[in-house]
Order: sequence, then C-alpha cells, then structure tokens
Amino acid sequence: VILVAGGTGHLGRILVSALVSAGEPVRVLARSAGSADRGAPDGVERVEGDVRDVAAVRAAMRGVSVCVSAVQGLTGRGGASPATVDRDGNRNLVDAARSMGASFVLLSVVGAAPDSQMELFRMKWAAEEYLRASDVPWTIVRATAFAETWADVLRGTADRAGRIRVFGRGENPLNFVAVADVAHAVLRAVADPSLRGEVIEVGGPSNLTVTELAMLLQDGRAPGHVPRAALRLMSVLARPVRPDRARLARAALLMDSQDLRFDPADALATYPWLSSTRVSLGAAGWPGLSPGTSRPRQR
Ligand SMILES: NC(=O)c1ccc[n+]([C@@H]2O[C@H](COP(=O)([O-])OP(=O)(O)OC[C@H]3O[C@@H](n4cnc5c(N)ncnc54)[C@H](OP(=O)(O)O)[C@@H]3O)[C@@H](O)[C@H]2O)c1
Repeated sequence: VILVAGGTGHLGRILVSALVSAGEPVRVLARSAGSADRGAPDGVERVEGDVRDVAAVRAAMRGVSVCVSAVQGLTGRGGASPATVDRDGNRNLVDAARSMGASFVLLSVVGAAPDSQMELFRMKWAAEEYLRASDVPWTIVRATAFAETWADVLRGTADRAGRIRVFGRGENPLNFVAVADVAHAVLRAVADPSLRGEVIEVGGPSNLTVTELAMLLQDGRAPGHVPRAALRLMSVLARPVRPDRARLARAALLMDSQDLRFDPADALATYPWLSSTRVSLGAAGWPGLSPGTSRPRQR
C-alpha cells in the first residue's frame, strides 16, 4: 500500500489519481479524508487522522511500502503550524515508516535551510534532517511555489470590482512551478528505488513577480496592493487570536523581499525526465498548461 499523507490537498489529489490509474493500492491520510473525497477516484482507502497524533499515524502506516508526505501546516488553524505539522508531524510519519520498513518521499521546499527567515523553510529543513538521519530509505522532493495555489490565493483577494490585491509591493521575482510537474517528480520518486538518498528540486523555467502573476490572471490589469505596513501590523496584532493569519502576514512580507528565484537547469541536467512547464494561461483558463509552452522531457 502507498500512503499519501495529505492526499486531499492540491498536490495530493493529483498524486492519488495517478497512483490509482497506475493500479497501485492507495491509502489517504488527512484530517478530513472522509468528507473531502470530491473527485477522488474509487478504490482509495481513506483514513481520517492527524499527523500530530502518533497513534493515528501508526495505524495509517500498517502494511505500507512507500509513504508520501504532502502535508503542510503553514495555513493551518487550531495549533497546526509549520513546527507542529511540517516538523513534528513528519517526524511521526518517519518513525512509523521505520517501524513498518517503508520507504519515504518527503515534500519539502526549495530554499529549506536551518537559518532561513521563513519558519516553514526551517521546519521543512528539520524534517529533512530527521529523515536523512533515520535508516528509512528516502527521497526528498523540494518544490518552488505552486502556481495554482498562488492563483487561488490571489483570486481570493479580489475586491468587489474583481480587482486582485497583492501583498506588499509585489515586485520581488519568485519561481512558480506547475503542480503537475511536482506530481510528476513525486510519482517517479515513489516508483524508482534508484532515487533513494536523492534531493530533487522542481521549479518552473522562469521567475515572475506576484504583480505579473496577478496581471496574467486579470487580463493585464494592474492589481491593487495590501500595504506592507498593514501586513506588519497584522503579523503582530493577529498573533494572540489568529496565529495562522499572523504567520501568513509574516510569510507574505518575506515573500515580498527574499530572493526566491530558482533556475531549474541543474536539476533538469541531473534528472532529464523532470518536466518544467511555463506558467501561462491555458486554453481552458488559469491554471493552464498552454499547448506548446510546456517542455516535454524524455521519460
Ligand atoms: N503550495 C506550495 O506553494 C508548495 C510549495 C512547495 C512545497 N509544497 C509542499 O507540497 C505539499 C503539498 O502542498 P499543497 O499545496 O498541495 O498542500 P494543501 O493543498 O494545503 O494540502 C495539504 C494536505 O495536508 C493535509 N493536512 C494538513 N494538516 C494535516 C494534519 N495535521 N494531519 C493530517 N493531514 C493534514 C490536508 O488535509 P486536511 O486539512 O483535511 O488535514 C491536505 O490533504 C506540502 O508538503 C507543501 O509543504 C507546497
């Protein structure tokens, strides 16, 4: 059985469908696995549980040969956070995988580092380190920002006139990746034991500012802005009542200023089967993988 922790998320849903299509037995672990099966293929076993709960994780790991962790706590509420989910939850999954003799594919972020200013990046690094130090056979897939997720976030900021508002100046270029390209790398990592012990970085071919992304989404119209001062205020004032909002405000400020560009050339040279699709509007609207703009790679 392949366990996909976070199998109901943006990436997880694509992974689960592809694994089921390939005839693999799949189990999904998520807090709302049972109710969140919109569009999920038949034959998937759903287990409701929290990766912070050791007993739930152990139970979900029974009979598992490969565990994929696609959970994240950045946007979580009720005590969920990068520390409790991305670091500690992943540790629980790794411990359970070790007991079961399962391999592990961990979703992490390009830029994961112990001294990053981004809490999420530090916690992903901690999870990576824990996995690397375990005797579990592992593959780490690091990705840049998911274009589809960010498109959803930006659309959610639209005012009554439908005008998107970007957080801060929106002039900092960052790398966006198509979620299908990340899924492609994860599926390969699940199936190919020769990738154990490898860190695979997946990103798009170009870097875009959030303003450029917003303009793509609204026919070239310039977006409005949430001023940096408002984000700074929210990052402090919201902390006691809505720590998730405070965390997101801090993350938005850092995304507006940190160097988050990425060049996938090295990864593509090392892993020629990776795909790196240009972020653009497709025929069916955003998010789209426009015909002719993708770079199909040899499988
Ligand atoms: N989005 C990006 O830009 C980006 C960039 C780089 C790397 N990544 C990584 O890629 C992976 C997938 O990201 P995504 O954007 O697809 O995530 P997502 O859409 O937010 O989905 C997260 C999944 O994790 C589950 N989950 C969250 N907290 C959980 C908990 N405490 N216990 C059990 N399940 C939990 C969620 O279901 P419930 O809420 O029902 O529990 C959901 O299935 C994550 O590891 C993320 O850190 C994402």
